[in-house]
Amino acid sequence: MGMTDAMAWHATESRSESALDLHSASGGHHAPTSGEADAPQVFLLETARGVMKNNTYLVVDPVTHQAVAIDPAWQPEAYADALAATRATLCEILITHTHADHIDLAIPMSEHYNCPVRMSREEIAWSGFDAMRLLPLDGASWQVGAMTIEPILTPGHTPGCVCYRIGDNLFTGDVLFAEGCGICFELEGAYRMFDSLQHLKRRLPPDIHVFPGHTYVRPPGQRFSELMRCNLYLQLDDRDAFAAYRLRKGQLGRKVLEFR
Ligand SMILES: [Fe+2]
Repeated sequence: MGMTDAMAWHATESRSESALDLHSASGGHHAPTSGEADAPQVFLLETARGVMKNNTYLVVDPVTHQAVAIDPAWQPEAYADALAATRATLCEILITHTHADHIDLAIPMSEHYNCPVRMSREEIAWSGFDAMRLLPLDGASWQVGAMTIEPILTPGHTPGCVCYRIGDNLFTGDVLFAEGCGICFELEGAYRMFDSLQHLKRRLPPDIHVFPGHTYVRPPGQRFSELMRCNLYLQLDDRDAFAAYRLRKGQLGRKVLEFR
């Protein structure tokens, strides 16, 4: 099946100064974010339903051609095409959180590809999500092929949000966008979001590439150091000031995408 603009999957390398290592297979392109040939390869699959647009990802181990999908939604053919183009096997589905736009294809793809769905215990308890092959995270890292996958619990947007670190890449769902951070629905959530962002600041190397669940202005794949420079929500160092700003008037209404 041919690809439409809405489901185009293309290079994730965001450094404008670098030449992209584009491969064209079934209309797709990719660029490893690390210079090493055996580094995990990140493919952006932009999927859409109506006005909703999500960044979802396929991460492929070039050594074994095993792959994981992150927050797949809405357009199953996009993943089938990407898997065919990379000659990869889908081994796991990683869920950052259970909002509908992030779990839309979790169950059907788990059944179609006969692979497990992973999410945090906290998110399962909060949402009641269930699937035949649901695997709760226990906080430990694990391997898919030659890739090490490290879950980082980052509550705030929901009680069980997880970011996944795979090589030099961090997949942040609705926790951290290039332009801001996810919505917090009440004071406790805003405090937890602050703590989660502080945790990421302590834990992440500056060079890691950040791949959010949505793009508003800046393309996915920015380095964390760049977000530290331009993202106000990473710069607020006072917990109460952060919570007050995150919960400022209008943020749950029409100003939901006005990060500053
Ligand atoms: Fe969300």
